[in-house]
Amino acid sequence: MADTMAAPAKVAITLTVNGEQRTGQVEPRTLLVHFLREGLGLTGAHVGCDTSQCGSCVVELNGASVKSCTVLAVQADGAEVLTIEGLGRDGAYHPIQEGFWEKHGLQCGYCTPGMIMSAYGLLKRNPDPSEDEIRHALDGNLCRCTGYQNIVRSIQYAAQLMKDGPTAPVATSAD
Ligand code: FES
Ligand code: FES
Repeated sequence: MADTMAAPAKVAITLTVNGEQRTGQVEPRTLLVHFLREGLGLTGAHVGCDTSQCGSCVVELNGASVKSCTVLAVQADGAEVLTIEGLGRDGAYHPIQEGFWEKHGLQCGYCTPGMIMSAYGLLKRNPDPSEDEIRHALDGNLCRCTGYQNIVRSIQYAAQLMKDGPTAPVATSAD
């Protein structure tokens, strides 16, 4: 019997990812997170659910935080994408990554890239967030390990670090 299930035609897309122009061929149904992970080898954005709830896939798309499992790769054609891999510079951690390191904001780490990217979006909009504002900004990010307290501390630490600048001393007292 003839096979009637022809493979879907692929579409060429070009986007800027972490400052570099990248191209690919994707099926129209390919999700952005799958293109980033499987097409570009950027495996920092994780897939933690199939219900758009966990937030482990958060990236920036044209400067806005998005769950990359809710966006088709073809919708990102021509766009600018920032992933967790693009945050650090010259081998140094971004202050938010430093915050998670310093304040033990992770256990298994599965949610961490999404948490950090959501925190990045928050601190861009609001460099001095209250604890409530941090918790509200993380509404769309689930962590099954930490209880969130150290994640909030990590973001508070990062906010202070970003305010003080890279050479300013940072309080490291135990919590
Ligand atoms: Fe869970 Fe995207 S993979 S929200
Ligand atoms: Fe394990 Fe958040 S650190 S899911």
